[in-house]
Amino acid sequence: MEQLLQKIQDLKAEIAAFSDGDAETFRIKFLGSKGLVKTIMGEMKNVAAENKKEAGQFLNEFKLFTEAKYEELKSSTNNGQQSTAGEIDLSLPADALPLGSRHPISLVKNKIISIFQRLGFAVAEGPEIEDDFHNFTALNLPENHPARDMQDTFYISQNPDWLLRTHTSSVQVREMQKGQLPIRIICPGRVYRNETISARAHCFFHQVEGLYIAENVSFADLKQTLYFFVQEMFGRDIKLRFRPSYFPFTEPSAEMDISCLICGGSGCSVCKKTGWVEILGCGMVHPNVLNNCGIDSNKYTGFAFGMGIERITMLKYQIKDLRLFSEKTMTVF
Ligand code: DAH
Repeated sequence: MEQLLQKIQDLKAEIAAFSDGDAETFRIKFLGSKGLVKTIMGEMKNVAAENKKEAGQFLNEFKLFTEAKYEELKSSTNNGQQSTAGEIDLSLPADALPLGSRHPISLVKNKIISIFQRLGFAVAEGPEIEDDFHNFTALNLPENHPARDMQDTFYISQNPDWLLRTHTSSVQVREMQKGQLPIRIICPGRVYRNETISARAHCFFHQVEGLYIAENVSFADLKQTLYFFVQEMFGRDIKLRFRPSYFPFTEPSAEMDISCLICGGSGCSVCKKTGWVEILGCGMVHPNVLNNCGIDSNKYTGFAFGMGIERITMLKYQIKDLRLFSEKTMTVF
């Protein structure tokens, strides 16, 4: 009798602590036809006749205890039976989380924005479908101006005055028209050009333009701003140079090159063996542009710049084909 009670006690402790399996494992181990409850019931025959009643009570109570534990396991894991429709089967593997990551264009765009925000530039946005005035005329590109050919334009057939913006300079115009000076903005966004798609050109891409207009803004301010940007973007060791250039909306105009990140300046296919890569156009805002937008060009001066985000991203992550950016999957390691 004593032995039996001891066994029951040990088994109860084991059952209470049962955690290494589901309800079905438990059932087989304790309540199945060869389970421990059955086995211990079989011990009744060894109990002296005068103790049988008492032993029977203990065994019965033990059986109920075991069955209660089984019910508890079943309801907590729903595993003792087939799951029925509508019930949540907690034993199923969890749904995979939809994992994603930011597109490299977004990563670089955000980085560019945060660098200029630290210099006090605010983000301005505008429409991708523009009118001729904001995309061209206001920017000192009147009708029939030959420089319009610099950018192959998609026109919207319903209205010859509408087009897909070829640059985000149109946003600068919209901001200048608001007339709240000084202006210190960057304009990130998607632009469109009627180009044949290749490794180096696409019919849409992304730009960030910058504009600073106040009293006494000089070319030195432009250079220092862009120098800060390039160092923050590519590191302190980067070298840069300005080359004279032409844009109708700036005078003087320049293009800015940085030392090639691929070869470090010694010459490779990316920099066409020159050691330099062009990353942006810039200049002092042309007085005609200021006047076209209602700003007094005798009082205010300003600088502007514009860069392609794809170009910067390709340099930063050493991506050699522009088309990859608009394919379905793109991973940057
Ligand atoms: N809008 C020019 C382009 O898309 C880039 C550019 C050049 C923008 C000089 C500017 C600038 O604001 O000052 O090619």
